[in-house]
Amino acid sequence: MPVSIEREAKTLDPGFRRSDAGGEGKDFEPAGSFVSSAEEDREERLRAEIEAYHAAALAYAAVKLGLPDRIGERAWTADDLALALKVSAPHLERFLRGLVTQGICEALPDGTFALGPLGRSLRSGSPSRLASKVTIVVEQYWLPWADLLHTVRNGEPAFEHVFGTDVWAWRNENFKGGDAFAAYLAGETFGAATPIVAALDFTGVARVADIGGGHGGLLAAILKAHPGVRCILFDLPETLIGAKKFLKAHGVDKRVTLVGGDFLAEIPVEADLYVLKSVLQHWDDAAARAILESCHEAMPPQAKLAIIEPLLPDHANDAPSAVMLDLHMMVITGGRVRSVSEFETLLAQAGLSVTHIVPMRSGLTMVVAVPS
Ligand SMILES: C[S@@+](CC[C@H](N)C(=O)[O-])C[C@H]1O[C@@H](n2cnc3c(N)ncnc32)[C@H](O)[C@@H]1O
Repeated sequence: MPVSIEREAKTLDPGFRRSDAGGEGKDFEPAGSFVSSAEEDREERLRAEIEAYHAAALAYAAVKLGLPDRIGERAWTADDLALALKVSAPHLERFLRGLVTQGICEALPDGTFALGPLGRSLRSGSPSRLASKVTIVVEQYWLPWADLLHTVRNGEPAFEHVFGTDVWAWRNENFKGGDAFAAYLAGETFGAATPIVAALDFTGVARVADIGGGHGGLLAAILKAHPGVRCILFDLPETLIGAKKFLKAHGVDKRVTLVGGDFLAEIPVEADLYVLKSVLQHWDDAAARAILESCHEAMPPQAKLAIIEPLLPDHANDAPSAVMLDLHMMVITGGRVRSVSEFETLLAQAGLSVTHIVPMRSGLTMVVAVPS
């Protein structure tokens, strides 16, 4: 039967690729009849994107096994490594071959395995933070995203449908997961803080309050750039436990006052500049308004508020990363990425008015507001 091997393989296994057929498809076509059309290229791209779950699962399992750290700088037989990791040797060998396909491991000519370049990036302490990233993605985002349909059908964050509680309550109850998220974000925020610190106006500013500042990634950068400034970090009490460690590691802990509380209720903090970075996007309009009202009540008349997060442009299709973040908020938190006019409305409802808007590198925008 002249059944296409490729078509049959696809029917048997939805994970099967054209290139998996061992001949880029054209091996099964008469010579000269295979034309790579733009449509096929697009389909190939989507197929690869759909199959990206393989990469996430492989990297996650490697990290959870502690495999990149255990392999270290030496080469291992699958049997020795299985003994060290206390796992099934034949299954580990197949798993290692899978890691080789991702560049996480390398197969050496003598049959042993060593770390590949991406395996090094997955070691604990790697500046890439990829081990934390894959752990958070798989443990906190994977199942809710697989349940996206629930959000679209019912308008409820899939996270709550899957885990039975909202994301911040979950992160508080699951301290390890919450701490991992805050630690990861602090590293990311600190790493991307230079343009934010440069865009902030410190004229007449002696005290900065970072509201929902997590472990203090932005404050650490502010304190290093402005030696005369003192800071207040306001967040949930549980988050502040890890913040102490982070700020100490950056040598700035002595200049930060930690204040625990709930910004939906009250922000009992007096400062000249209030910062809300990547906070409002996590909340629906009613909650975002409550946070802004708490800020307004806390602000002395001359104080400023800087909101820093991605904005949704008028033509959302021009900003795929803002669109994806908006969807991520819809699925995980019930929040949203907002446009300038949506921010203006929300701020006005909280008794604040926009003074200026500063677009920054890295897709973030700063919206500066003062009490009306
Ligand atoms: C996405 S993180 C942003 C952290 C930090 N601003 C940054 O960009 O790196 C949001 C922060 O809001 C805090 N948060 C959530 N609910 C809160 C509440 N009700 N009161 C105070 N902080 C809260 C979380 O603990 C978390 O640190």
